[in-house]
Amino acid sequence: MNKPLPKTPEEIKEMRIACRLAAEVLDYIEPFVRVGITTAELDRLCRDYMKNVQHTTSATLNYTPPGYIPYPASICTSLNHQVCHGIPGEKSLKKGDILNIDVTVISPTGFYGDTSRMFIIHDASILAKRLCQVTYECMWLGISAVRPGARLGDIGHAIQRHAEGNGFSVVREFCGHGIGRKFHEEPQVLHYGQPNTGIELQPGVIFTIEPMINAGKAAISELSDGWTIITRDRSLSAQWEHTVLVTENGVEVLSLSAACPLPPKLVTGTLATTTANAIAALPPAPLP
Ligand code: MF3
Ligand code: CO
Ligand code: CO
Repeated sequence: MNKPLPKTPEEIKEMRIACRLAAEVLDYIEPFVRVGITTAELDRLCRDYMKNVQHTTSATLNYTPPGYIPYPASICTSLNHQVCHGIPGEKSLKKGDILNIDVTVISPTGFYGDTSRMFIIHDASILAKRLCQVTYECMWLGISAVRPGARLGDIGHAIQRHAEGNGFSVVREFCGHGIGRKFHEEPQVLHYGQPNTGIELQPGVIFTIEPMINAGKAAISELSDGWTIITRDRSLSAQWEHTVLVTENGVEVLSLSAACPLPPKLVTGTLATTTANAIAALPPAPLP
């Protein structure tokens, strides 16, 4: 695997902006994610917010990796047993649904910011809520493993241990990724693995951590729409995503916004306090 290139201080400033903008789309859409709305309507609202308020563009609209057809929407909406890359459509949200919304924007200066959150519609089963919470903790345990000198396998191991320790499974086919002036760069950040393996993390490197955790087995299938990934056993799946920077002493989460959720209780120390302080210092996302 190729080594990721550390970003320059100027690039890091630009990535802070791009990632905050992505997070602010999620802040903006949160009050609309309620019983009765369709995911197509959520897509339209996010698209208009990006265009008219942020002057960003969606990195996903017409995104066409080799072997794929163009992705047709400005956000990904993955519902219940959908794992990732769900295409917004005409189905309305109902009580008990769990929904991942994944936003990748391209900032006005051409940098990519990528983040996703889970939304619980009205109320959900105890299992669904526990899956969302454990997946959130998995992402944050992965983030907590990031520091110069740590290795990629340390991140994957922390995530896998917590997911499997709670009786859940880790999706293998999709991973976190370096990000910058391009959507997907080196390194690939697996959400499973062994401690003390993989490349060593260097200050200035930026990547996403975005575990997909299934309530049942890890196996997935792809729908005939060419994009949507579901659990093969139709069990529930959850995902959270942040973009992070390796700093001189640890890690900085770049995809923070005024209304993003705080780190979970199991994150303590400097990372918990600096993250909470950073969130508190951010102004609310601008209204349309
Ligand atoms: N945002 C996703 C990620 O975290 C990628 C979505 S690609 C799409 O890497 F085409 F499905 F939108
Ligand atoms: Co990503
Ligand atoms: Co994403």
